[in-house]
Amino acid sequence: MTAFDGCAQVWLFAYGSLIFRPDIDYLESRRARLPGYARRFWQASIDHRGTPQQPGRVVTLVEAPAQAVDGLAYLITPEVFAYLDERERNGYLRLALPLHLEDGREVSGLVYVARQDNASWLGPAPQEDMARQIARAHGPSGPNHEYLLRLAQALRELGCHDAHVFALEQAVLGELAASHQLIG
Ligand code: BEZ
Repeated sequence: MTAFDGCAQVWLFAYGSLIFRPDIDYLESRRARLPGYARRFWQASIDHRGTPQQPGRVVTLVEAPAQAVDGLAYLITPEVFAYLDERERNGYLRLALPLHLEDGREVSGLVYVARQDNASWLGPAPQEDMARQIARAHGPSGPNHEYLLRLAQALRELGCHDAHVFALEQAVLGELAASHQLIG
């Protein structure tokens, strides 16, 4: 039995591509906050935004007791789990974690987290190395930099601040500008 098997409706926490490309049916959506975690580009993508030969970087969540992650919550039904389990199959597990919805409700949310013990875990690296990797990687779902830039834009539109994402966005824009100058 995995978290939420057997439940009729569940609040799914979106903190990455599910914010800007949900591609799922949902009954409601709300801004939401997950306390005790931080969003980090520390998970390799070999199936969406990179390849096994040139992995990209995508987000996961790491425990950070004094911090919180802002994102969206979608109220979904169990049929959606099968699709999400497939889409996020590269190292992510379903967890049940307390979520704060913007209307003041506290719910037990479904959160996909890739932990340090999964095969695609990359962990931290110097900012310029992460930026170079993201600027270069490309996978079946498109360029890795598009994932980061769309996430940063979506967070801004929601009024969510994330220093890690915004700093990486600036570093990747710098990398992209430098590579265009080299080509042009
Ligand atoms: C998300 O976009 O919220 C998400 C990130 C990683 C795994 C599953 C979902």
